Amino acid sequence: MKHILVGTNRPKSRSLELARIVQERYKHLGEDVEIINLEDLPLSIFTGAEYSAEKPEVLKRITDKIDDSDGIIVIAPEYNGSAPGVLKLLIDHLSFPKAFERRPVCFLGLGGMFGGLRPVEHLQQVFGYRNAYVYPFRIFLINVWNDLVNGEIQNPDIIDRITKQAEGFQKFCEALKSQKIHANNFVEL
Ligand SMILES: Cc1cc2nc3c(=O)[nH]c(=O)nc-3n(C[C@H](O)[C@H](O)[C@H](O)COP(=O)(O)O)c2cc1C
Repeated sequence: MKHILVGTNRPKSRSLELARIVQERYKHLGEDVEIINLEDLPLSIFTGAEYSAEKPEVLKRITDKIDDSDGIIVIAPEYNGSAPGVLKLLIDHLSFPKAFERRPVCFLGLGGMFGGLRPVEHLQQVFGYRNAYVYPFRIFLINVWNDLVNGEIQNPDIIDRITKQAEGFQKFCEALKSQKIHANNFVEL
């Protein structure tokens, strides 16, 4: 199963609304994709205690999902010229190297006039460091508040781009699996 990682824990975020739209697109393509909502994170990860302690149940569940994921679709809103700190904090709590090593990942950014270009490119650096397979076709929602209203996108061009990204990412993940170079079925030569 693939997962949509919502890059913020802000209540009523547009990122979560976009995640639901993306999830729907995958459903149309015959695939159930699960949303990981950072609003579910336990407060204790903010104390730093969980770096060494046994992980709390919720964090363990998220870790297990990412460690088995067929592919991760990251929704990256722009906060202060980058991705929200809470997303990086979650990434820092996930398993190393299993979480991202050879795991396919794709990105959708949202923000003001640069449409989330900065958080996506910052995250590409992080995921590149972690040896993830980054799907090259990215989506940016410029001045997102104009196009994503009450949980809906009316502009057919944006829906079309989201659909094309989903189709492409499905093929990308399948191609990696067919060659046995995907995190979930990697075979050493
Ligand atoms: C804390 C915060 C910081 C933001 N910083 C930026 C920014 O640096 N650049 C930008 O284009 N938009 C910025 N925005 C606008 C957000 O990108 C936009 O509102 C987007 O919808 C936020 O995603 P969310 O609804 O999922 O929280 C910021 C919003 C918040 C809440």
